[in-house]
Amino acid sequence: MIAIEKLSHAYGKRTTLVDVDASIDAGEKIVLLGSNGCGKTTLLKILTGLLEPGGGHVLYDGHQVSPAALRDKTVRRRFRREVGLLFQNPEAMLFNPTVRDEIAFGPRQHDLPDADDRARHWAAQVGVEDLLDHAPYTLSAGQKQLVCLAALLALSPRLLLLDEPTAALDPRSTGWLVDFLQDLPQTLVVATHNLSLATELGERCLVLGEDHTLLHDGDVASLREDTEVLYRANLVHTHRHRHGDQEHRHYHTHDWS
Ligand SMILES: Nc1ncnc2c1ncn2[C@@H]1O[C@H](COP(=O)(O)OP(=O)(O)O)[C@@H](O)[C@H]1O
Ligand SMILES: [Mg+2]
Repeated sequence: MIAIEKLSHAYGKRTTLVDVDASIDAGEKIVLLGSNGCGKTTLLKILTGLLEPGGGHVLYDGHQVSPAALRDKTVRRRFRREVGLLFQNPEAMLFNPTVRDEIAFGPRQHDLPDADDRARHWAAQVGVEDLLDHAPYTLSAGQKQLVCLAALLALSPRLLLLDEPTAALDPRSTGWLVDFLQDLPQTLVVATHNLSLATELGERCLVLGEDHTLLHDGDVASLREDTEVLYRANLVHTHRHRHGDQEHRHYHTHDWS
């Protein structure tokens, strides 16, 4: 479904991605792991054609993805229908007067006759059906994120890219979201710096390092054993420990259950 070939990117002199190669098959659930600033959001934006690659390219079903390629209206319409990106900051996506209009917006844009039914259905699926007539700006950060997710799902996309989707969620909602995402038929790429989320969600894990290269592409179990990669990717840290008079250092993840 997606081929990422020799992909590089920089904002001016600030390197964000270096020679990233990966391919993603339909139906895969992938976790994109990396510490702050390693390039996760940049990669998701390139995959959705919002940013132009600096070098290399991205193919979706064999067709090039880039802002230039998406200038063609027919190509863009189909791509936007099939591929959805949930922004880390949901404020960036919300602009309608009510939650109902927000979720129905995409289906209406695509002239789907059942836009209102889709809005009700997906609001119920993500647990915000009581908020359908509320103004999005009155919701909590977590509720906003769920509304944005419902808005994406209302288009029945093939591929969903989620940028730190649990950042604003409490533990119970996080657990719920992991189960929910696992049951979705869509191909998923979930960006996070949360290791425990990777173990719960991902069968396959891509790790971006602080040098902006891909450090690991494989199963989560083998990553767990690879302290070297985790340390290089700044996903674990060491700090002093005291046991009585004894002091020592060892690796810590804190969020790795
Ligand atoms: N619009 C931008 N202009 C300049 N630099 C940016 C911009 N967006 C992000 N960056 C920088 O690019 C690097 C990668 O950012 P990002 O992809 O957001 O990382 P991540 O999502 O993994 O935290 C960071 O150093 C960040 O400060
Ligand atoms: Mg980010």
